[in-house]
Amino acid sequence: HWTAEEKQLITGLWGKVNVAECGGEALARLLIVYPWTQRFFSSFGNLSSPTAIVGNPKVRDHGKKVLTSFGDAVKNLDNIKATYAKLSELHCDRLHVDPENFRLLGDILMIVLAAHFGSEFTPACQAAWQKLVRVVAHALSYKYH
Ligand code: HEM
Repeated sequence: HWTAEEKQLITGLWGKVNVAECGGEALARLLIVYPWTQRFFSSFGNLSSPTAIVGNPKVRDHGKKVLTSFGDAVKNLDNIKATYAKLSELHCDRLHVDPENFRLLGDILMIVLAAHFGSEFTPACQAAWQKLVRVVAHALSYKYH
């Protein structure tokens, strides 16, 4: 569970996150760095090169949707498993996304936040966010257990 400091570090940074920009960037990076993840997004059109992926409006829109959903975790820190119960069903039962990919996207989100916030993304802040993305990945994997 969370200390008061961790909660403060998570909600404090979240209030400054540009969800559309960081979400789009995180999903684009996932698709570029881990190309096997592209197979889930065959309906998104042109993913043939890093430039195509970064410029693809469907990638941007979906990245925003995913990071917006992270906001639900931030608002429900003490209840993350229940918050993601439905999404876990979608990703596990219907989409069959390997849960390792949830961890990969979480780690990429760390990189995006570090790039956007620089020295403001302190080691303590990273530690709190690292914990958050792990808890979210675990909650999304719930339906596999
Ligand atoms: C859809 C969240 C990771 C694949 C969605 C939706 C949300 C979401 C909110 C939209 C659900 C709806 O329309 O009702 C998340 C979160 C993740 C995550 C919070 C954090 C780790 C992943 C990963 C993959 C993935 C790693 C695949 C590699 C998909 C696909 C859809 C989807 C294929 C449906 C897209 C469509 O055709 O509209 N996700 N997701 N997700 N997600 Fe995720």
